[in-house]
Amino acid sequence: MAMWLGIISVLPELIDAARSGGVFARALEAGSLQLQTFNPRDFAKDKHRTIDDRPYGGGAGMVMMTAPLVSALEAARAAAPDTPKVVLMDPQGEVFQQATAVQESQTGSLIIVCGRYEGLDQRFVDHYVDERWSIGDYVLSGGELAALVVCDAIARHIPGTLGNSLSIIDESHLDGTLDYPHYTRPVDTAEGSVPDVLLSGDHQRIFEYRRREALQRTFHQRPDMLIRRVFSDADRKLLTACFAASKEQQNTTKKQ
Ligand code: ADE
Repeated sequence: MAMWLGIISVLPELIDAARSGGVFARALEAGSLQLQTFNPRDFAKDKHRTIDDRPYGGGAGMVMMTAPLVSALEAARAAAPDTPKVVLMDPQGEVFQQATAVQESQTGSLIIVCGRYEGLDQRFVDHYVDERWSIGDYVLSGGELAALVVCDAIARHIPGTLGNSLSIIDESHLDGTLDYPHYTRPVDTAEGSVPDVLLSGDHQRIFEYRRREALQRTFHQRPDMLIRRVFSDADRKLLTACFAASKEQQNTTKKQ
């Protein structure tokens, strides 16, 4: 089933740039994704096509007006194949996670609203926005780049988008750990050799090596991802070994 994404933005050219390569181009070409943009400026009523105004109560910057946003949203809803959820890209929203990307890829459609300037009139948010998503604790000058990040993360999970569907089963974050390291030909380079186990043809040993590497990376780089997780006995053993090795390392460093 194809997924339909409607993006409301005053800078549709930023969104359209993504059509020309990578996962978007592939998904659009394969017909697994449809992407439509809706520019609130096209729905502004005055001759200057105004979409923003000064904030009541004073303060810096401009606020996006409700009416052009509502008209753009109505156009998006009319174009959608079903009744999509409306998401606002917002640094104050909930942080977008891999699990959400997978979940959304299984829905038929989604409308994403990109804010610019100081923000949107709160009445639009209160009346029309179902969820607010942030891509991290930093502020971009608009929601467009953030929208592209989430659309990319969603698009790669739509069946038929990625050539090798196995690569998505394996990859980082899906099972709550980071990815293991990858190597390709040649076996020996000036920078080192491929670990022997990967050349052994022994699938069980390769699986164990990769799992150990993934858990080790997660332990060192993103220990927060391991909190409140339930582990298999094998994973628990590997993590205990990581912890012991890390303690050992700390003690050696202290002694030096
Ligand atoms: N708009 C501006 N900054 C953003 C962020 N970090 N995430 C989502 N939308 C945004």
